[in-house]
Amino acid sequence: MAILKIARMGHPVLLGRAEPVADPTAPEIRRLVADMVETMIDANGAGLAAPQVHVPLRLFVFRASPDRGTNDPEDTPMATTVVINPTVELLGEDARLRWEGCLSIPGLRAAVPRAWRVRYTGVDGEGQAFSREATGFHAGVVQHEYDHLDGILYPMRMRDFSLFGFSEELARAAQAEAEARQ
Ligand code: NI
Repeated sequence: MAILKIARMGHPVLLGRAEPVADPTAPEIRRLVADMVETMIDANGAGLAAPQVHVPLRLFVFRASPDRGTNDPEDTPMATTVVINPTVELLGEDARLRWEGCLSIPGLRAAVPRAWRVRYTGVDGEGQAFSREATGFHAGVVQHEYDHLDGILYPMRMRDFSLFGFSEELARAAQAEAEARQ
C-alpha cells in the first residue's frame, strides 16, 4: 500500500468528468482503493475521490465517524466505505448548511448547502452492487465526494461566501463565541 499524492484546487484533474470503472474487481482497482483508504486516513480526511489522487475514475472512499456527525439523532454513521460507479439521488427538499472541508483545499472550511437525505447506489470493493439511504453528515459526505467525479469542488456549491474561512480562524472564532455565551 502507498500514500498517494493529493491534487490541490487549481489542478485540472479536479475539474474533469471522471470515467466509469470498467471492472470494479480488477487488481489495479483493488490496489487503488486500498491506497486511497490509506491516504484518506493518513490525511485525516472524511472522504477521498479518485480524481483527487490524479485518477479520473468514478469511485470514492469515505467514512462518516460518529464524532464528526451533526449531533442530529437522524445521522447515519458509516465505517470506511468504498463506492464505485455511484449514483446519488437527493431525497426531499430539505437542504441544510453543513460545514465541510476538502483534502484538495487544505486549511479552509465553508458552510455549504447540501440535501439532508440521499439515496445512493454503487458497487463495493468486493464487486457487490448496493443501494443505501443516508442522512446528515453521511449524506453530505456522499454528495461532496460524488461532486468530485463531475469536476465540482465545494466552493462551486457555496451561496454565502462570508461562511468561508481558514479552519484555524473559524475554530478560534467559534471558541470565542462559546466563551462569550458562558
Ligand atoms: Ni473533497
